[in-house]
Amino acid sequence: MTGRFITVEGTEGVGKSTNLAFIEGFLRSRAIDVITTREPGGTPLAEELRELLLAKREEPVDACAELLMVFAARAQHLNQLVAPALARGQWVLCDRFTDATYAYQGAGRGLSLETISKLEFLVQGSLQPDITVWLDIDVRLGLERARARADLDRFEEEDVSFFERVRAGYRARAEEAPARFCRINAGQPLARVQADIQRALEAFL
Ligand code: TMP
Repeated sequence: MTGRFITVEGTEGVGKSTNLAFIEGFLRSRAIDVITTREPGGTPLAEELRELLLAKREEPVDACAELLMVFAARAQHLNQLVAPALARGQWVLCDRFTDATYAYQGAGRGLSLETISKLEFLVQGSLQPDITVWLDIDVRLGLERARARADLDRFEEEDVSFFERVRAGYRARAEEAPARFCRINAGQPLARVQADIQRALEAFL
């Protein structure tokens, strides 16, 4: 039996790390063999590409180059780690996946959704997540949280209007795939966010 593929998405400061750990713990409590990974990244080569993508640099990064690096990392991650794990029957919990590309490179950078969809098919064929937990939060609130905690990477340095477009991009994805997407109001206190996530996962199981 093949495993299930769960992805977690959202803009900056939504609490992805905390809630990924919560989801992993919940699945393990149900005796599910799960591996947790992330995009961009998840294998040594894909992690190197992640560093290149997130690094701040003087040279402006061409949006198309950014898109191709994201998909290069994804091809490596998918073929080396995600697909073999699913084939072995393991579940894969992934911090971001292709919805992030539609949101950040499509809605955020303004690249053509049709081009993204062609690359998606090239890299993934018909593989899609089984469920996507979208942690949704007011952009300004999320940015305040994200900026309070660490050095900013190249994406986190973008302005509010960029993240408003990204959030709208996620909303559009959720509307296109309502059966797969589960929107969680991440602006609530953590206990309520996690209760909502648990309810969604129980329904999924
Ligand atoms: P994060 O792991 O801290 O969320 O950082 C990853 C960054 O990479 C985040 O700002 C979003 C960005 N990203 C894209 O722009 N496109 C993608 O397809 C993915 C997976 C991530």
